Amino acid sequence: MSQRVFVPGDMAAVAVGADAVAAAIAAEAARLGREVVVVRNGSRGLFELETLVEVETPSGRIGYGPVLPHEVAGLVAAGLFEGGEHPKRVGRPEDLPFLKRQTRLTFARCGVTDPQSLEDYRAHGGWAGLEAALALGPEAIVDAVKASGLRGRGGAGFPTGIKWDTVRLAAAPQKYVVCNADEGDSGTFADRMLMEGDPFLLIEGMVIAGIATGATRGYVYVRSEYPFAIAALERAIATASAAGLLGPSVAGSPYGFELEVRVGAGAYVCGEETALLDSLEGKRGQVRAKPPLPAHVGLFGRPTLINNVLSLAAVPFILAQGADAYRDFGLGRSRGTMPIQLAGDVRNGGLFETAFGITLGELVEDVGGGTLSGRPVRAVQVGGPLGAYFPPALFDTPFDYEAFAARDGLIGHGGVVVFNDTVDMAEQARFALEFCAVESCGKCTPCRIGSTRGVETVDRIAAGVRPAENLALLQDLCETMKFGSLCALGGFTPYPVMSALTHFPEDFAARTRRLEPAE
Ligand SMILES: Cc1cc2nc3c(=O)[nH]c(=O)nc-3n(C[C@H](O)[C@H](O)[C@H](O)COP(=O)(O)O)c2cc1C
Ligand code: SF4
Repeated sequence: MSQRVFVPGDMAAVAVGADAVAAAIAAEAARLGREVVVVRNGSRGLFELETLVEVETPSGRIGYGPVLPHEVAGLVAAGLFEGGEHPKRVGRPEDLPFLKRQTRLTFARCGVTDPQSLEDYRAHGGWAGLEAALALGPEAIVDAVKASGLRGRGGAGFPTGIKWDTVRLAAAPQKYVVCNADEGDSGTFADRMLMEGDPFLLIEGMVIAGIATGATRGYVYVRSEYPFAIAALERAIATASAAGLLGPSVAGSPYGFELEVRVGAGAYVCGEETALLDSLEGKRGQVRAKPPLPAHVGLFGRPTLINNVLSLAAVPFILAQGADAYRDFGLGRSRGTMPIQLAGDVRNGGLFETAFGITLGELVEDVGGGTLSGRPVRAVQVGGPLGAYFPPALFDTPFDYEAFAARDGLIGHGGVVVFNDTVDMAEQARFALEFCAVESCGKCTPCRIGSTRGVETVDRIAAGVRPAENLALLQDLCETMKFGSLCALGGFTPYPVMSALTHFPEDFAARTRRLEPAE
């Protein structure tokens, strides 16, 4: 029997040479006449070890990393195929502290299985959620999702089961399920990793959503910057269709579900659900006023369920293992696990799935290992470009929707970006407003005009022009944007701006003092 050697085909691994590593391993195996199959698995999410090569041995999978293409011949000479000793040998990947500390419910298979193998997916528990769903029927599926406590992982944290029920109860000749895979937040990559590393999981979650809500068509809206995810999904959809898991009769049941991938054109605002619907309909992505909710009047005017990749991908576990098995993790109203993404100046960057409740300090200092540069941590932005900056003084904040909101922050899609002491927080505040100005869809005045006036005001503060008055003006502008904007792009931009002002006032003041003598 051939031996399986795993070399991630994940975009992050390919970016550091995984394709060349895979080719070198195949060439070495051929030279030695060994029967080796190189499987392009997903990433385990421990990026400092990419390219992480894993070899199947009689005593389990043995990892080596980070492997560079020119090191392969030496590794093979040292006994790579037997799990032999080498400075790059890291042992069993599951035993690595970064992976061992995690609770992988959604990412259980990512990096472990062959993402394009239906057999591998089934052998690792795949389709058990769909089987349970078919036995339960729509109402009981929705009840299970409600009981699990799952909340939307796209940013707003809205209870998933309630949204599903709204679409289920909407009467219409056609309903849709739309997966939001636009993943525009800075420092986030969990959706991408999942689509590349376990695409059948997302398909299974969407099929279950279709059965639950009565929707027979689904679309995955993927950003164009994710070509690997698009290819992985398209292949997996073709395989699932050929196996009868998608199509007019899902797994021989009376339920039908067709699924297609649609590629976005690269606007941050097209991640906002109603702008996304406009984009899917072939229009310029512009935010729609609510009501009506997309659950009532969505894609092509029909009731539409819109969920993030991670929300949909959490569902098969809930159906297969029971709502309580999911709900038992977490704290307060934040139930289950969150795939957190550690990025920026951090030693152990990557994907860390854990139950809600871990503190920000544990995440940055223990899990992340502090900064990669070795400089002190100064600020951490959580929740993408619209998230607040947290200083180390707030590192006791538990990862929990309400705890973050209580400190004027948000957890969003779980992106955590670490900044060291060289960061200029006045620059970051300016950047937030500039980003909003560039990405604004232009529909409402506080965002369209306010963001540009905000950039000018920060510039005036930086130039030392009437700093006290301009600071008051900036705060007033933030209030107007927060309460007067139609969507969260304009409405949440004040979070990074105000948190920079509140927690790092010295950056604004120092700037003023430094520049004042020059006037
Ligand atoms: C400007 C803006 C950008 C957004 N980008 C995304 C995104 O990239 N992915 C996502 O899932 N949700 C995004 N959202 C949130 C969506 O509007 C919506 O709440 C989400 O897709 C609902 O799915 P969920 O309930 O599963 O989280 C964005 C919202 C705003 C205001
Ligand atoms: S807040 Fe900005 S992005 Fe949102 S609707 Fe208004 S102009 Fe468009």
